Amino acid sequence: MRLLVTGGAGFIGSNFVRHVHRERPEWEIVVYDLLTYAGDRRNVEGLERVSLVQADVCDEGALDAAVAMCDAVVHFAAESHNDNSLESPLPFVQTNLVGTYQVLEAVRRHGRRLHHISTDEVYGDLALDDPARFTPETAYNPSSPYSSTKAGSDLLVRAWVRSFGVAATISNCSNNYGPYQHVEKFIPRQITEILDGRRPKLYGAGENVRDWIHTEDHSSGVLAILERGRLGETYLIGADGELSNRRVVELILRLMGCKPDDYEHVTDRPGHDLRYAIDASKLREELGWRPRYRDFEAGLEATIAWYRENPDWWRPQKEATEARYQAIGR
Ligand code: NAD
Ligand code: TYD
Repeated sequence: MRLLVTGGAGFIGSNFVRHVHRERPEWEIVVYDLLTYAGDRRNVEGLERVSLVQADVCDEGALDAAVAMCDAVVHFAAESHNDNSLESPLPFVQTNLVGTYQVLEAVRRHGRRLHHISTDEVYGDLALDDPARFTPETAYNPSSPYSSTKAGSDLLVRAWVRSFGVAATISNCSNNYGPYQHVEKFIPRQITEILDGRRPKLYGAGENVRDWIHTEDHSSGVLAILERGRLGETYLIGADGELSNRRVVELILRLMGCKPDDYEHVTDRPGHDLRYAIDASKLREELGWRPRYRDFEAGLEATIAWYRENPDWWRPQKEATEARYQAIGR
C-alpha cells in the first residue's frame, strides 16, 4: 500500500501519519501538504518510508501526479480554525471546497480509494440540556465559514460517490487534543499562555461544551474506516468526552499548579456554537472500534508535558498567534 495523506504535516494529519507508520510498517506514506502557517515539516521528519510533497490541493497538476502514484488517499488538508474563518473566509472556500473538488476529480480519474476527513461542526450545535447527540442521520446545519465549507466538502464527496461511483468514505470527528496542535487552538493556547506567565482566556461565560477525543483515537478510527468501512458511508468518531470550556480551563490550571479560577473572560466568538456531542455507535458496532484514551485528565496531563518539553516546536508560532487574537479582542 502506498497511501497519500493530504494535510499530513498538520496536527491531526501528522498524528495519523505516525500512527500508520507504527501500525502498518509495510506501508509507504506520501504526505501532500502546502505547509501553510498550520503545517510543519518537522512533524513528519525522520520517519522511514514517509516522504513529503509540498504542494497545494488546489493545484490540479501536482495533485494528479501524486494521486497517480498512490493506491489510496486520506484527505485531511483544510483551513481548520473557526476564528480565522470569521476574519478571512476566502482561504476556507478555496482549500476546503475547491481543494476537495480537485481531490475528488483526481481520485475519479485514477480510480483510487478516498477517505475524507470532516468534523462534527457540520451539524451545527445542540442546546446544553438536549439529550440528543449527533448521528450520521442528523441534518447538516453549519454556523461558520469553517463549518459551512467543511459541510460543502462532505456534500461534494457524497455527490461524487453517487454520480460517478467514486469509492469514498467520510468521517466526522469531534474536537481533538494531543501533541503537535497549533497554539491558536483552545487547549494549546491556554497551556502556552500559562507557560508564558499569562492567564488562560475563556470566550464568553465558558459554558460552551466540546466533546474531546485524543487525536490518537481519531487516527485509529480513520484507519479502521479506511480498511474496513463500507464504501459510500459516513461514520462519526467520538469518545464520549463532553466538557464545558470552563471545566477544561480549570483542569489545565490545576494540572499546571495554578489556582483553578486564575483565568480571564474575553469577548465571545460571534455565532459561537454552544455544544457538540457525538454518538459513535455505528463505528463501534460495525467496525468494533474503541477509543483507548478514556481518561481525559491523564491525556491532558501528557499533552501539557509535551508542550512544556517542546517550546522549540511552538515558540515560533506563539507571538504572531497572540497578535492576531489581540487585533480581534480575543
Ligand atoms: P491543521 O490546521 O493543524 O492542519 C491542516 C494541514 O493542512 C496543515 O498541515 C496545512 O499546511 C495543510 N493545508 C492547508 N491548506 C492546504 C492546501 N491548500 N493544500 C495542501 N495542504 C494544505 O488542522 P487539523 O486540526 O489537523 O485538522 C485536519 C483535518 O481534520 C481538517 O480537515 C479538519 O477539518 C478536520 N477536523 C479537525 C478537528 C479538530 O479538532 N482540530 C476535528 C474534526 C475534524
Ligand atoms: P477551538 O479549539 O477553536 O475549536 P472549535 O471552535 O472547533 O470547537 O475552540 C474550542 C472551544 O474553546 C470553543 O468553544 C471556543 C473556545 N475557546 C476559548 O474559550 N478560548 C480560546 O482562547 C479559544 C482559542 C477557544
